[in-house]
Amino acid sequence: MPQAKIIDGKQVAAKLHQALKEEVVALTKQGVTPGLATVRVGEDPASQVYVQMKEKACAMIGIMSRGIRPPADISQEDLIAQIEELNSDSNIHGILVQLPLPGHLNTPTVLQHVNPDKDVDGFHPLNLGKLLSAKYWEELPRFIPCTPAGVIKLIDSTGVEIAGKQAVVVGRSIIVGKPVAMLLLARQATVTICHSRTSDLGALTRTADILVAAVGVPQLIKGKMIKPGAVVIDVGVNRLEDGLVGDVDFNQAKEVAGYLTPVPGGVGPMTIIMLLTNTVRSAKAQLS
Ligand code: GUN
Repeated sequence: MPQAKIIDGKQVAAKLHQALKEEVVALTKQGVTPGLATVRVGEDPASQVYVQMKEKACAMIGIMSRGIRPPADISQEDLIAQIEELNSDSNIHGILVQLPLPGHLNTPTVLQHVNPDKDVDGFHPLNLGKLLSAKYWEELPRFIPCTPAGVIKLIDSTGVEIAGKQAVVVGRSIIVGKPVAMLLLARQATVTICHSRTSDLGALTRTADILVAAVGVPQLIKGKMIKPGAVVIDVGVNRLEDGLVGDVDFNQAKEVAGYLTPVPGGVGPMTIIMLLTNTVRSAKAQLS
């Protein structure tokens, strides 16, 4: 059995990077510097790393980023007030509220207060609703969630057609599982969503021509759970003592899959570039 082709997320992201940089230059010349506010509540170590990576990527491409760092014990009212301020700031085109939020905050309520026109994460109920309403790709809202958008770009980078295929998504989060399932559906795949209560997960994942793993369980997807030749996208980022691993057992999967993303270096770089893409899109919309 030939080994899976490894999908290089860094390379796919780099290609998008250059074009985006040119768009930022053009926008800046027209007097609009795209601006992204990153709201990180508290000091969650993983969130610190993610937000730092996002801000670094902004700087590399010429997007202005503004870090908002409320303490972990901020009240919901005060957090919403800070978001409202960003909503009315014309230098800010995108607002990202890093998740997860501390337990005393109601995430959907907080996200509801992000102006849908600045919702570069695509988590506002209006944008999620539009995502649900879209029958075809062309009908999708301006902002679709970044990691799911990146997953589709990675699948497209393989040249494998999505329409008509069996796609299985493992995970049902609002950040990845649900929106990626909707995107695959809009691309006319037949989609199955699996989760922690799914019985005989392997029987379902083995039907997948396209398998997206986004459950946060280290190396849950073993080689025998994969259909030979499948496109396998591993969204998992699990920190173990001996390093970072995905939701897919990489060494086993590469013996079976046709295409496979590594962790790190697969989905991660795509999430960031899609966030920058959404921010530039937002700035452009403001210009017109
Ligand atoms: N936490 C994990 N992934 C994401 C993401 O894509 N956006 C935000 N805001 N928080 C996250």
